[in-house]
Amino acid sequence: MTTALITGSTAGIGAAFARRLASDGHNLVLVARDKKRLGEQATELHDRHGIEAEVLTADLATDEGIEAVAARLSDRKNAVDLLINNAGFGNKGLYLDVPMADELKMLKVHCEAVLRLTSAAAESMRARGRGGVVNVASTAAFVPRGTYGASKAWVVQFTQGVAKDLSGSGVRLMALCPGFVRTEFHERAGMGTDNIPNWMWLDADKVVAAALADLARGKSLSIPDPRYKALMGVAKVTPRALLSGISSKTGRKYGPK
Ligand SMILES: NC(=O)c1ccc[n+]([C@@H]2O[C@H](COP(=O)([O-])OP(=O)(O)OC[C@H]3O[C@@H](n4cnc5c(N)ncnc54)[C@H](OP(=O)(O)O)[C@@H]3O)[C@@H](O)[C@H]2O)c1
Repeated sequence: MTTALITGSTAGIGAAFARRLASDGHNLVLVARDKKRLGEQATELHDRHGIEAEVLTADLATDEGIEAVAARLSDRKNAVDLLINNAGFGNKGLYLDVPMADELKMLKVHCEAVLRLTSAAAESMRARGRGGVVNVASTAAFVPRGTYGASKAWVVQFTQGVAKDLSGSGVRLMALCPGFVRTEFHERAGMGTDNIPNWMWLDADKVVAAALADLARGKSLSIPDPRYKALMGVAKVTPRALLSGISSKTGRKYGPK
C-alpha cells in the first residue's frame, strides 16, 4: 500500500484524484484550506474504500501552509510515494483589473508552493529510489493568457526540466495540462462560461484516468484528451497575435465586481 498527498483535494480535479487513488487502495494525505470539508472527505473515502485518509489543513498562499505540507513530505517514517500538486485558482478580471496582491498570491500557490513541495517530495523520493510527482498545469500554459497562463507555463517548463534532471533516480515527474474541466474553478473565479462550447468541456474523472495512465507510461507531459492534443498542435503553428486574440476571450467573461 502506498501513500499519495493531494493538494486541493476537496473539489474538482483534486477530488477526482482522491476518489481514484482511494479506489485503487492508496492511503491519502488530503490538503486544502477548508477543515470541515477535508474531514468529511477523509471520512467518506475511508468508509467507502477502507484506506487511511489523513487531513492537513494548509493555505498554500502562505509560508506556514507551504512549510507544513513540505514537512509532511519530508517525513521519511511516513513516506509519501506520490505527490499531486493540484491546488490552484483563477483570478477575477483581466490584467490591471486584478489587484496586485491577488496576482502575487497566484504565483505563490501555482509556482512557489509547487517548487517547494516538489523539492521536499523529490528529495525524500530520490533517497528511497522511487516516487512520482504530478504537477497540475493547464493547456493555458501554451497560449498567451496573463498571469494564469504564465504561471502554468512555468509549471510545465519546471516539471519537464526536473524530470530530465532526475531521470534514472526512480522519481517520475509529470506536468498535467487539461483543457476546460467542469469543477468549482470558474464559479470561484467569477468567470462566465457560456461562451465555452460544450465539446470543450472535460470530465474530471476521465482527466485523472488519462493522467495516471500517462504517468505509468513515464511521460513528463500529459494533455489528457485527443481534442486538446489536436488543439495544442494547431496552437503551436498559429501566429501569436491571432492566438492571444482567441485565448484572451475564451472562458474569460467576468461578471460584475
Ligand atoms: N477547471 C479547469 O478548467 C482547469 C483547467 C486546467 C487546469 N486546471 C487546474 O487544475 C487545478 C485544480 O483546479 P479545479 O478546477 O479542480 O479547481 P476547484 O474545483 O476550484 O478546486 C480547487 C481546490 O484547491 C483548493 N485550494 C485553492 N486555493 C488553495 C490554497 N491557497 N491553499 C490550499 N488549497 C487551495 C480548494 O480547496 P479550499 O478552498 O478548501 O482550499 C480546492 O480543493 C488548478 O491548479 C487549476 O489551475 C483547472
